[in-house]
Amino acid sequence: MTDQIDASVTIAGGPGDAHPGYELLDRLIALVDGGTTDLADDIARIPLDHYRAPERHEAELDTIFRRGTLCAGPSAAVAEPGDFMVREVLDKSLLITRDRDGVAHVLLNYCTHRGAIIAEGEGCTQRHTCPYHAWSFDASGTLVGLPGAEGFDTLDRSTVGLVELPSEERAGFIFYTFDLDATPDAAAHLGPFAAELERWNFAGYWKVATMDLEFNANWKSTMEAFAETYHFPYVHGASIGPGVIGNTATFDTFGRHHRLGAALVRMREVAAGDLEFDPFWHTSMLYWCCPDLMIANSPFGAEIIQVTPMVDPGWSRLRHTYVTMGPPSSEEELEVAQVMSRPAADAIRLEDGPVLQTCGPGLAHGEHGFATIGRNEPGVQNIHRQVDDLLGLRSPS
Ligand code: FES
Ligand SMILES: [Fe+2]
Repeated sequence: MTDQIDASVTIAGGPGDAHPGYELLDRLIALVDGGTTDLADDIARIPLDHYRAPERHEAELDTIFRRGTLCAGPSAAVAEPGDFMVREVLDKSLLITRDRDGVAHVLLNYCTHRGAIIAEGEGCTQRHTCPYHAWSFDASGTLVGLPGAEGFDTLDRSTVGLVELPSEERAGFIFYTFDLDATPDAAAHLGPFAAELERWNFAGYWKVATMDLEFNANWKSTMEAFAETYHFPYVHGASIGPGVIGNTATFDTFGRHHRLGAALVRMREVAAGDLEFDPFWHTSMLYWCCPDLMIANSPFGAEIIQVTPMVDPGWSRLRHTYVTMGPPSSEEELEVAQVMSRPAADAIRLEDGPVLQTCGPGLAHGEHGFATIGRNEPGVQNIHRQVDDLLGLRSPS
C-alpha cells in the first residue's frame, strides 16, 4: 500500500513522538520473530442468534444505539464554520454541522414545517434551506427564514428549530446520543481511551474523501473485519495485504475500547536489525471505540470507519472517511493524500465488501450454531464481549 508513495513527503501534524508504536516496538519484534500474535485466553463461541435474532437485534438497537453514546464522525469532516455532512444512522437522517462559533451540532435532518429532508451530502453553508417551502435554518438549527411569513404570524419561531441531539466534541471526534434527555459525557464514554486518542491530535486532521457503503451483514460482522489482520493475506493479497504481516498484532484494551498494533511488512527488517524503526511506516494502529467507530492509522493519516446497524439485523452501513494528519501544504502533498485514500477505500469496497456480503447470509441461515472466534482474534472477541456486557449479559466464553 505504501510502496508507491515517496516517503520523503510528510504531512505535518499527527502524534509525532507520542506515536504508540514506540512503546510497542519490543512486543512487536517478539511477535514478528516468533511468527505469532497476541492471543486471547480462550476460543470464543458466538451464538449465531447474536447476529440474526430479531429480539437480540432490538435489544442492541435500544440499549446501545438509541440510548448509548455514539460517534457522529471525526471533527475533521466538519472542520470549518459552515461545514456540514449528512449521515443515515439506524432509521434517522442526521445533519452534522459546525456553526459560526466553531461549535459542532448533530441535528435531525427533518424540516419542522412538514418533515422534508433538508440537506444532502456534504458541503459548506451557513444556511440550510428546505427544498419544499424554503424554510431555512442556520448551522445550529435555528429557523432564520420563512417565506409567506403572514401565514405564521402567531408562531413562536424559537419553537421550530431543528431538533438537536445531545453531543460533545472530544479528542477530534463528535460524540452524540439519540436520547434527547441525556447529557453527553464523552469523557465517561471514553474512559482511559481518551488519553490514547488525544495523543494523535485528531482534531487537526484534514478530510480527503468520504465513502458510504451498505452491506447485507449484521453490524458486528461488518465491524469484525476491522478488528483483525488475520484475513489480510487472503482477502487483500493482491492489494494492501503484502504490506502487512497478517495475523501479527499486539492487543490492548482501554476500558471497553481496544487497540491492535499491527506489524507492517518492513517490521521484519526492523526485527532483523537491518532497518531503523519508524512507527509511521512500520506499524498500523487499529482502534475500536465501542460501539461504532474504528480508526486505522497509516503513514500520512487515518481511515475513520463507522459501522452502524440498520433496522433489519442482517444489514449494516459503513462510512469511510480518509483523513490526513493535517491539511496538505502543497500540490504534491494533496496528491499523496488522494493517492493514499484510494487503495484504502478500494480494499473495503472491492475486497472486504464482497466477503462480508457472503458472511451476512452465512450467519443468517447457517445451521452451525456458533461463530468460532480464535485466540488470535482478541479484537473480534472484545467486540462481542463488550456488546454482551452493555446488554447486561454474561460475556462470551
Ligand atoms: S417541509 Fe420544509 S419548508 Fe415545508
Ligand atoms: Fe479487510
